[in-house]
Amino acid sequence: MSAERKVHVVGNWKMNMSAKDIKFFLDELKPAAARETWIAPQAIHIPLLTGKPGLHVGTQDCSEKENGAFTGDLSAASIKDVGAHFTLIGHSERREYHAESDELLNKKTKAALKAGLKVIFCCGETLELREQGSTEATVKHQLEEGLKDLTAQETENIIIAYEPVWAIGTGVTASPEQAQEVHAFIRNTVLPNLNFDQEKTIILYGGSVKPENFSELLNCEDIDGGLVGGASLKASSYNALLG
Ligand code: PGA
Repeated sequence: MSAERKVHVVGNWKMNMSAKDIKFFLDELKPAAARETWIAPQAIHIPLLTGKPGLHVGTQDCSEKENGAFTGDLSAASIKDVGAHFTLIGHSERREYHAESDELLNKKTKAALKAGLKVIFCCGETLELREQGSTEATVKHQLEEGLKDLTAQETENIIIAYEPVWAIGTGVTASPEQAQEVHAFIRNTVLPNLNFDQEKTIILYGGSVKPENFSELLNCEDIDGGLVGGASLKASSYNALLG
């Protein structure tokens, strides 16, 4: 992390948590002034989380379409309407289980930005691609295609999340060295060609982040926070990530 970039702790609850679980969570949650406190619950639960001081709420996906006959999809405007302030785009589980293409993710990103949402854009390689030595090429391709044709003003509202697929939900975290290497590559080599301010852009690491490994990840120059699944489901461990 760097002194000019505030640490972000973003919980991705995926398809977990009941209304009752959320009540317990919020009773115990202690948002920290020094760290950004963001949570993406299942979208239908957003109204249970809005209005809590210091907490930013978002969705895990949004439609690329503005409105219309798209049964089951969520428009960016409706997400904004209920008081949410960001959306994840391109999580590897969406890429894999919903076959989301780079082209679609580019459209989703533009739709979310147009509605005034911040975007956390996810990228990351599979174990197979890492073993082939294709980590950098994969991440570069995902970012160049997913984030193309954006203005410098638009990219100010984008956070990047590097999430190696082999580290998600597996308990295996990338080592701080492995993560830092990819973060530095994203910041110094990929982002400058995509209209991003390389010094200001927040780049999160995701993949089995927990209180026990978070501080060593944050000690890396180019890691500005975490996108956290499992360890964000309990207020005790989420609070521990908030420092
Ligand atoms: P995990 O999930 O922390 O449970 O590995 C991270 C993510 O998928 O965003």
